[in-house]
Amino acid sequence: MKPFVTATLLLSVAAAYYIYLPLPNTVCEPWKLMILDAVFRSFMHMGDLAHDLGLSHHIHVINYIVSKVEVKGPQSSKTVQVTDTSFAGVQARVFEPTTQVKEHHLKRGVVYFHGGGWAMGSGRMRSYDLLCRNMAEELDAVIVSVDYSLAPEAHFPQPYYDALKAATFFLRPEVLAQYSVDPKRVAISGDSSGGNLAAAVVQQMAAENKTSTKFKVQALIYPVLQALDFNTPSYQQNGNTPILYRSVMARFWLEYLNGNTSLVPLLLANNHTALDRTGVPEAARAKVDWTRLLPQSFQKDFHRVSPAQGSAQVVEELPALLDVRAAPLLAEEEVLRAVPPAYIMTCEHDVLRDDGLMYAQRLEEAGVAVTRDHYEDGFHGCMVFSFWPAKFTVGTRSMWNYIRWLQEHL
Ligand SMILES: *[C@@H]1O[C@H](CO)[C@@H](O)[C@H](O)[C@H]1NC(C)=O
Ligand SMILES: *[C@@H]1O[C@H](CO)[C@@H](O)[C@H](O)[C@H]1NC(C)=O
Ligand SMILES: *[C@@H]1O[C@H](CO)[C@@H](O)[C@H](O)[C@H]1NC(C)=O
Repeated sequence: MKPFVTATLLLSVAAAYYIYLPLPNTVCEPWKLMILDAVFRSFMHMGDLAHDLGLSHHIHVINYIVSKVEVKGPQSSKTVQVTDTSFAGVQARVFEPTTQVKEHHLKRGVVYFHGGGWAMGSGRMRSYDLLCRNMAEELDAVIVSVDYSLAPEAHFPQPYYDALKAATFFLRPEVLAQYSVDPKRVAISGDSSGGNLAAAVVQQMAAENKTSTKFKVQALIYPVLQALDFNTPSYQQNGNTPILYRSVMARFWLEYLNGNTSLVPLLLANNHTALDRTGVPEAARAKVDWTRLLPQSFQKDFHRVSPAQGSAQVVEELPALLDVRAAPLLAEEEVLRAVPPAYIMTCEHDVLRDDGLMYAQRLEEAGVAVTRDHYEDGFHGCMVFSFWPAKFTVGTRSMWNYIRWLQEHL
């Protein structure tokens, strides 16, 4: 019996060591978050191990696990009809409320892009599936959850083009009519990398001004919007806070832009935007200048990291770092002026907090109406953790506030 007890004890200590993370006490349900993070980290470690052994790309390993555990078939319920389909060649899951109020009754519409670092996840995952069902029911809206293509197979601009194609297709008068959607009441939305795609697509449509139908509002949930500064106060403050670590976000960017992932340390040092990097125009630097764009209360005592000397021609080699379609925070003010009213949700314990806050500021300066919804106890990804077994009170709260905002503004 003794070796068994010893082994159990040792394993428990090892597990506790693996799970335990010092977390700020202001984050929602820290113990639950530690466990969730340990699960995520173990997937990441498995992915990295398989990758290093040359067995499979690390993202494929993670997506394989997700597809087995999380992805659901299209199951209609009494209230919502669910269909997997293709919008101009892009996969999408459509959620249609079945309520027949009266004839010729038109519904709202929402085009939604899931998160996952442009590499992971799917609109067919349980969490997004449930979110979209709730939205369809509560908002009496047709929800189009777009499965744009992902890294490592697809790199920028492919996922962006997929998002643009699906959104443009849905806004076609005959498509809206087919789904009984009111052309005056369609929103574009997404979380994390999906928020990036939503912001980029709505900017492009505003700049082009080609489609007869426009999105009425945009709702961005902890969006990722820039890759010039990996040392904003929120990147500095939350670099080691689950579930999105600073180095993981830098790696997602490099994979999205098809850069070499060995550049992660360079990006984290802001060496790509060092002051001797003449490829970064002053105008672009100004658009991510958090010392101007963030309220003092978020700047705290953090200092700008802008080294005098950089180490490589990263921006010249990866021009997409300066492309507004990849980094919507860099858009010109004329473009911002033409985008629809915005809801921007941010979380205190999130490296991307300041991406969202800076964008809110730039939109307001361009005269766009912005609702800022900030969660002091929120962490990156929390809104989709509102369902058992990863149910956080901040997840449930933020999800219903988001839906309520759409209820009032769409
Ligand atoms: C968009 O185009 C319409 C007509 O084509 C025009 O009336 C409108 O002013 C344009 N809007 C912007 C922001 O350019
Ligand atoms: C990435 O960079 C590393 C280190 O500079 C180099 O060894 C490797 O060959 C590069 N990979 C690709 C795909 O260019
Ligand atoms: C950043 O650039 C400096 C100056 O060239 C160099 O000494 C340093 O090693 C670089 N850091 C990284 C992480 O590349």
